Amino acid sequence: MTEISTAPEARETWTRNSGFILAAIGSAVGLGNIWRFPGVAYESGGGAFLIPYLAALLTAGIPILFLDYAIGHRERGVAPLAFRRLRRHAEGIGWFQTGLLFVIGVYYAAVIAWAMSYFVYSFTLKWGDDSQTFFLEDFLQVGDPEISTTVVGHVAVPLVIVWLSVITVLCLGVSRGVEKVNIVFIPLLLVGFSGLVIRALTLPGASEGLNALFTPKWDALTDLDVWIAAYSQIFFSLSIAFGIMIAYSSFQRRRANMTTSGLVVAFANSSFEILAGIGVFSALGFLAYQQQVAVSDLEGLSGPILTFVTFPAVISEMPGATLFGVVFFGSLVVAGFTSLISLLIGVSNALQEKFGLGRIPAAVLVGGVSGLISVALFSTTSGLIALDTVDQFANNLGVVTSAIVMTVFVVWVVRNGDLLRRHLNAVSTFQLGKWWLVLIGGVAPAFLTIMLIQKVVSLIQ
Ligand code: PHE
Repeated sequence: MTEISTAPEARETWTRNSGFILAAIGSAVGLGNIWRFPGVAYESGGGAFLIPYLAALLTAGIPILFLDYAIGHRERGVAPLAFRRLRRHAEGIGWFQTGLLFVIGVYYAAVIAWAMSYFVYSFTLKWGDDSQTFFLEDFLQVGDPEISTTVVGHVAVPLVIVWLSVITVLCLGVSRGVEKVNIVFIPLLLVGFSGLVIRALTLPGASEGLNALFTPKWDALTDLDVWIAAYSQIFFSLSIAFGIMIAYSSFQRRRANMTTSGLVVAFANSSFEILAGIGVFSALGFLAYQQQVAVSDLEGLSGPILTFVTFPAVISEMPGATLFGVVFFGSLVVAGFTSLISLLIGVSNALQEKFGLGRIPAAVLVGGVSGLISVALFSTTSGLIALDTVDQFANNLGVVTSAIVMTVFVVWVVRNGDLLRRHLNAVSTFQLGKWWLVLIGGVAPAFLTIMLIQKVVSLIQ
């Protein structure tokens, strides 16, 4: 009698498919959805932005998400090992992606720590009447390079809490740590955040806010920068080409419906993002209504200022301010935290696989080093400057470069595109046709290269 091996795989795995899907949604839905998307859409053509956004989602976002899945699921390693298995000398592509994760993690954690402080402040509306002075002077102490006790309390303590929590989850591992956290928090986030959006929609002035967000400015479509913004948003938001989805799918069981899960994740992520746009702009419409100005006259409609200056001002004006503030900043913390876990697991598993480190030493090492750097940077005001620079380089240049290198490498260098396509089709119900190869081997890298050149030229000028 021949015996078929039923030995369990040594690799850690998700316990169920929904665990994988929720974790992937947890990684995708993050600060990028709440904190980045509404402002980017508003500044990049409003309603017209939906066209480049959808184009980016369909021509690059979903196809590259599938590519990440295929690489991780077939090669069964996080980025460096997975690329090494595709070709010996290609490990560097994986390390490049791992480097991006490390850098982004350092500042991403800081924004979560700020949100955590604001979560606490929401109970007393501590920012008072002048939220701008509060954020810049009292909270970040801009203009004061010394580490003061206030900054330690506002930023360093929550940062330490964030990092200790991440390290704990990583030590618990994929199924007992990451999966459990996402199973609990993602449904909670969806419910809490939906409640927030409904509340915002019922505020006076909400429709003005929505008009400001969705009125199409068609001439934006001829602006290459708008297209670049759409592609960058999709990459960041779906967490693709960073090696994270490679890691997450490498923990997926061998028989798993990969492409269908991918569609669920992409759809959930974009829906959440658009929901966030609706919620944020309804609330801004309310602020404009209170101040009797047009939404376009409001200042600070994007980035950290939107979240930590403009939004607190909105909250203060609202009936039931405390609850709204608590749920809003609570959502940011949860959404950010589940993404931060994914950033860090990419790095710590890369070290585990490369150097044979155990899970706990790798988690403590990676979390400890990133944590120390982020505490050191963000306890002084240099962090705010670093945040901007890193956002430019890691998120725009870094990830686009990574996507180009990865697609060209797979399709044209090792010529494994069709092998990976057949791999996904063998396990999935949603079948990929040859069109997928055209997208990842032609359309996406070609467009991304134009974008990259344009970006570099604009940075040099
Ligand atoms: N997708 C996350 C967000 O939207 C950010 C992220 C990027 C997470 C890259 C992991 C990797 O906020």
